[in-house]
Amino acid sequence: MPAGRVYLETFGCQMNELDSELVRGRLASLGYRFTPDPAEADVVLYNTCSVREQAEQKVWSRLGDLKTHKAERPETVVGVLGCMAERDGEDLIKRMPVVDILCGPGELDKLPELIDNALRTRLSLRAERSASQVALQGSTSRRSATLAAAQDDLELLDLSRAISPTDHSGSAYVRITRGCNKFCTYCVVPFTRGAEVHRPPDHIVEECKRLADAGVIEVTLLGQTVNHYRYEDGAAVTVNGMLQPQKGRIYKGASAEGRRSDAFTGERVTTFADLLRRIHDEVPAIKRLRFVTSYPRDFGDDVLEVMRDHPRICRYLHVPAQSGSDRMLKMMNRGYTVAQYDEFIARARHYLDQPELGRPLMISGDIIVGFPTETDEDFEATKALLQRSRYKNCFIFKYSPRPGTVAYDRIPDDVPDEVKRRRNNELLALQTGISEEIGRAQVGREFEVYVEGPSRRAKKQAGLKKSSLRNKANHTISLTVSGREPGEASESHGAIASIDAGGPVQLSGRTDGDQIVFFDTPEGRSPADFIGRLVRVRIEAAQGMSLAGSLLG
Ligand code: 5AD
Ligand code: SF4
Repeated sequence: MPAGRVYLETFGCQMNELDSELVRGRLASLGYRFTPDPAEADVVLYNTCSVREQAEQKVWSRLGDLKTHKAERPETVVGVLGCMAERDGEDLIKRMPVVDILCGPGELDKLPELIDNALRTRLSLRAERSASQVALQGSTSRRSATLAAAQDDLELLDLSRAISPTDHSGSAYVRITRGCNKFCTYCVVPFTRGAEVHRPPDHIVEECKRLADAGVIEVTLLGQTVNHYRYEDGAAVTVNGMLQPQKGRIYKGASAEGRRSDAFTGERVTTFADLLRRIHDEVPAIKRLRFVTSYPRDFGDDVLEVMRDHPRICRYLHVPAQSGSDRMLKMMNRGYTVAQYDEFIARARHYLDQPELGRPLMISGDIIVGFPTETDEDFEATKALLQRSRYKNCFIFKYSPRPGTVAYDRIPDDVPDEVKRRRNNELLALQTGISEEIGRAQVGREFEVYVEGPSRRAKKQAGLKKSSLRNKANHTISLTVSGREPGEASESHGAIASIDAGGPVQLSGRTDGDQIVFFDTPEGRSPADFIGRLVRVRIEAAQGMSLAGSLLG
C-alpha cells in the first residue's frame, strides 16, 4: 500500500518533542511523507500533553476543528499520541469520534502498525468508520520497573533513531530515563509514562556518538529525574553455567572465578555521574552536554564534581522546587524540605559557580502556585525561596487538578482561580526582576555562545512564517520556511537560505548556562558561517531576560 502524507503536531514537553522526532524518523523510513498542512494530510497525529488542563484544552480544540474536515474527507486517519491518549483511553474516542488511533507514550513503537491497520481497514470499508486502533500502556505489562530496557521494543525506537547529517540544527535530545516513580500528588506523569526505566549506558553513549558523527555538537539528556539515573548490569554472562569474570565489573560476594551463577550476584552499576563522565570522555565531538530535569533530592557531590571537572558539561541545572513551604512540599509528596532544597542550591553554587572564569552557574526552577490549602503564609514562603534561589528563570504554574492523581482524588482544589492568578503574577514580576539583575551582572563578560539561528526579529524582518514555538525551557524554535516542509531541512538551515545576507543579521544563541544571547553577524559574513557553531561573544547589554553582545575574534 502506498504510504500517505502525515501531519504531526507536538504539544508539551521536551520528552514529547523527542518522541515526535523518533516517530517522524520511523514513519519517514517506512515511506510516509510529512506535510505542514493538516488539510492535505492522510494521517493527522497529535502528540499530546496532560500535565495541565490548559495543554489538553488545546488538543480538544484541534480535534474539534477536525470534525468538518473529517466530514468532507472521512478517509483521513486521526491519531492521538502521548499522555492524553494514555490518560483518557477509549473515553477520548467516545468524546471525539473523529479519533481513530490512540497510542500512549510507552507504546510508540507500535504506531506504524496502528496507522497501517487504520489505513487498510479504512480502504477496505470504503471510508466508513473502522475499528479504532489502540495501544496503551494500561493494557500491557510495560509498567514493570524490572523491565529490561535493552529488550524492550520501545528501546528499539530510540536505538533505531534516524540521524541525518543534514537534517538537524546541531543540537539534539537524548533520552536516558523513561517514566517516573516519584508520584508527586499533583502529577500525571507516573500514570501516563509509567514506571522509571533507565536506558543502558552503552546505548546512550552509542546514540551520542552517532549524533556527533552526524555533526551534532550539543546534547541535552532527558529524564523526569535525571539524577536518579542508575543502571545495573547483571553479571549474567554465563558459559556452561559458569559466570565469566567481566573486566571493569564490581562483583559482590567472593571471587568471581569459577562460581556458579546461581550462587552469585554480580553487578556493574552506572550512576548518573558515571554516565556524564562516559559521554564527556568518549564523545569529545559533543561540545556541550546538558541535562534536564534534576530532582532536588539525591543529587550527590559525585555529579557536581564531574560537572566541575569536565569542561564540556554545562553549568546549568533545572531543579524544580515547586514550593517554598514545607507544609505544601509534604502535601505534594516531594520528599524534601525547604532547608534541604536550599542546601542543594548552596552546594551546587559552591562547586560550580565560577563567574570569574566565565562560567557562572545558572539555575532554573518550577513553582506551582495555588496548590490546595495554600495560604498567604505558604505563598510568602515561596516568594522568599524565589528571592533566595536567584534562578536565571523560573516557570510558574497555577495548580491544575488532574484526574487520577492523589491530589485530585483527596484534596479539594480550594484556592480560587483569581488568587492563583494573583500569586502567579506576583511571582512572575519578582522573577523578572531577578532575571534582569542576573542579566545585568553578565555585562562586560565574555561567553561561548552556541548559535541557534536568526533571532525572532531577524526572522520577522525576513518574513518567515512561524509554525510552532517550542515550549519553555527548550532551545530551538521550529518553524516553516515558506514552501518547505518541517523535517525536510532543519529550520535554521532553511531560514538562513531565505535571509538576505546583504546587511548584518541578528543571530540568537545560548550560553553554557542557557542564557539567550543576541548578536549581529559582522558586515559581509553570512549567518551560515555561525549557525550550529560555538562562537565567543562579549556581552554589552542586558535586554529584559536576554543578553546582547558582539562577536569576538
Ligand atoms: N498543575 C500545575 N503544574 C503542574 N506541573 C506538573 N503537574 C502540574 C499540575 N497538576 C508542573 C510542575 C512540573 C512541571 C513540568 O509542570 O511544576 O515541574
Ligand atoms: Fe511529576 Fe514529580 Fe515525577 Fe516530576 S518528579 S514527573 S513532578 S511525579
